Amino acid sequence: MMENNILLDIKNLSVAFSGFHAVSDVDLQVERGKVHVIIGPNGAGKSTLMDLITGKTRPTSGQILFEDENIVGKEPGEISYKYKIGRKFQGPNVFDNMTVYENIEIALKGYTSIIKAFVYRRTQTVKAEIKRVLDMIQLYDQREMMATELSHGQRQWLEIGMVIIQSPKLIMLDEPAAGMTDVETYKTGELVKKLAGEHTLVVIEHDMDFVEQIADTVTVLHHGQVLAEGPFKTVKENPEVVKVYLQDENGEGF
Ligand SMILES: Nc1ncnc2c1ncn2[C@@H]1O[C@H](COP(=O)(O)OP(=O)(O)O)[C@@H](O)[C@H]1O
Ligand SMILES: [Mg+2]
Repeated sequence: MMENNILLDIKNLSVAFSGFHAVSDVDLQVERGKVHVIIGPNGAGKSTLMDLITGKTRPTSGQILFEDENIVGKEPGEISYKYKIGRKFQGPNVFDNMTVYENIEIALKGYTSIIKAFVYRRTQTVKAEIKRVLDMIQLYDQREMMATELSHGQRQWLEIGMVIIQSPKLIMLDEPAAGMTDVETYKTGELVKKLAGEHTLVVIEHDMDFVEQIADTVTVLHHGQVLAEGPFKTVKENPEVVKVYLQDENGEGF
C-alpha cells in the first residue's frame, strides 16, 4: 500500500454566518511537502477557510482531516501545539517592544509563557535553532533591532519566522506578500519554496507572479466555493477563472 501523501483532507466543509454562506461545501486536499495556493476575489472565503482549519471558527458542517484525524471542534491551542498547524495572519502581528531575537524566542516558548521565556536558559540547541530560523528569514544581522525598526517586509518575515520556529507540519500564510516591494515579494517566494518539503504550505495570495513562483497547486475560491483547481498554468487559462478575476479589481496579472 502506498503511504498516504495527503496531509490535509477537507471534506464538504461549510460555514454560514447568520445565513450567509462564507464557505460552502468545500473539498480540498493538500499534499505533504507541497505549496498549495488559494486565490479568489475579496470576500471569496479564503481567510475564513484558514479560520476553520485553525479552529478559530467552527464549521456548520463538514470534516477537516489532518493526518487522517478529524480536527473539527478542537481548540485553536490544541490545533496549533499538538497537531502542529501554524498560521500567519493577514498583516504583521509581532511584539513591537521586543527585539527580533526575542520575538522568535517568545514564539518558540509559546505565547502563554512569556514570563518564563525571559528566565529561560538559552541552551545551545535552542540558540542554534533560533539562528537557523533567523538565517532563513534573513534577519540574523538584525537580531538585536527592535521589531519597530524593521521594514514592512522584514516584519512579515519575522512573523513567518515566529511560525517556523514552532516546527509546524502545516504552515498557513494569509497574503504574506501584501504591501511588499517586488524584490521583497520575490524573496518571500524563495523562502516559501525553501520551507516546502520539510513543511507543507497553504498560502493565500493575490499577486499572480508570486503565485506562479511558488505554487504546486492552485485552488480558486469564489463565493465560498471551489471554482477551479490545478497547476497555475491550467488555472490561469480557465475561462471561468479569467471571468471572475476580470470582474474583480484585485485580479491584475491575469
Ligand atoms: N466571523 C464572521 N462573521 C460574519 N461574517 C464573516 C466572518 N468571517 C468572515 N465573514 C464574511 O465571510 C466572507 C468571506 O470573508 P473572508 O474569508 O475574509 O474573504 P477573503 O479572505 O477571501 O477575502 C466575507 O463576506 C466576510 O464578511
Ligand atoms: Mg482574506
